[in-house]
Amino acid sequence: MTPASKILHRSRTVPPRAAKAQGGYIFDESGRRYFDGSGGAAVSCLGHNHPAVVAVLKAQLETLDYAHTSFFSNAPMEDLAAFLIGAAPTKMGKAYFVSGGSEAMEAALKLARQAAVERGQTKRVNFVARRQSYHGNTLGALGVGGNAARRELFGPLLPANAHFVSPCYAYRDKAPGESEEAYGKRLAAEFEAKIAALGAETILAFVAETVGGATQGCTPPVPGYLSAIDAICKRHGILLILDEVMSGMGRCGTLFAYEREKVNPDIVAIAKGLGGGAQPIGAILVSPEIVDAIENGSGAFAHGHTYVGHPMACAAALAVQHTIRDENLLANVTAMGARLEAGLTERLGNHAYVGDIRGRGLFWAVELVADRATKAPFPSAAKLNAAIKREAFARGLLIYAMGGTIDGKSGDHVMLAPPYNSTPDEIDFCVAALGDAIDEAVASP
Ligand SMILES: Cc1ncc(COP(=O)(O)O)c(C=O)c1O
Repeated sequence: MTPASKILHRSRTVPPRAAKAQGGYIFDESGRRYFDGSGGAAVSCLGHNHPAVVAVLKAQLETLDYAHTSFFSNAPMEDLAAFLIGAAPTKMGKAYFVSGGSEAMEAALKLARQAAVERGQTKRVNFVARRQSYHGNTLGALGVGGNAARRELFGPLLPANAHFVSPCYAYRDKAPGESEEAYGKRLAAEFEAKIAALGAETILAFVAETVGGATQGCTPPVPGYLSAIDAICKRHGILLILDEVMSGMGRCGTLFAYEREKVNPDIVAIAKGLGGGAQPIGAILVSPEIVDAIENGSGAFAHGHTYVGHPMACAAALAVQHTIRDENLLANVTAMGARLEAGLTERLGNHAYVGDIRGRGLFWAVELVADRATKAPFPSAAKLNAAIKREAFARGLLIYAMGGTIDGKSGDHVMLAPPYNSTPDEIDFCVAALGDAIDEAVASP
């Protein structure tokens, strides 16, 4: 008998152990294989154990495992920073490497405050963020996150300086007859009203996921929305922090998700697709103006962790990014993304319990409804999203399932975020297995 687990697991039941992985597949201890259709949480962008990444990591481990950044810089960190700054669609000054998405967002929030203080704007203490968003699980990042379910238990511990406006959620919030442009303008006006209520001089930054991630399920911004927000920020000296932890690094078909928006962010956070799961890593890219504010002021970012700029993590991320470039994988994301969209639309577009299919690149969500006409959700007690995840798992497909799509309590969606090097057969398998899982789950909710 397997001994009782000594791990504080995420779920009441102990999940099966992953024994090995190769390409798009994870194998459990019994040898059963699962297609990693969500890359965990949109992480494994090259699948698993890509030979180019494995080779770089082996060589790095034999060369330099770790050197604390208070003593030394290191080549993988410097090279990765140069690569990312060279690849960013807007002018970025410097990069800072941490161990994941939450740490990246913590760094972004603290840097925003430090830059304001260095500029003599000490009254700036507030963040404006969006409901139904997610920026990480550490207290600072959770504080600016609008994921009501994840905030609930820790509410009394969260900083009080985050203020919320509506997310960009066209499926439910765009009024009948309202154009996407008019909807985007309405959201921008809401931000203006929030600024007027708080006082522009008290606001550090507007914080948003470029493409909404797991909390609402792959919600792309409507045309013009983010550029209108950016223009408002610029008018008031408010920073724009874009969280591309989930949507960035090729997931949406462009290396940075904001390439499709006319925006000039001050800080961009990236993580999951940066290292593709080969190592834990996150990062922020910082505009030249913020770098100047720090360098002409106190001289250094007043922040740090033991593992910032870890050589193994940075080497893995650089190998992942080189592979995306060398194997021309963004083109495959676009092609396979179009195949996934077409497949989902054909299989589920007329499904009685599917309200919306949305996404970009290889980042797609299906929102479930009990009634297509009224968009009424299933009762949350039915935990439909969890049932779909279970049914997909039973069919050898890993998906990302979430409840609380609408307001943190009601609504269900499931997400696919397969590897960038997925084949047409693998994409077709995702569509077929997810379709069958949904049919089965709604038949006996
Ligand atoms: C948009 C976004 N920001 C931040 C985070 C937090 O990243 P991590 O879980 O690596 O700390 C996540 C994780 O899902 C995310 O999706």
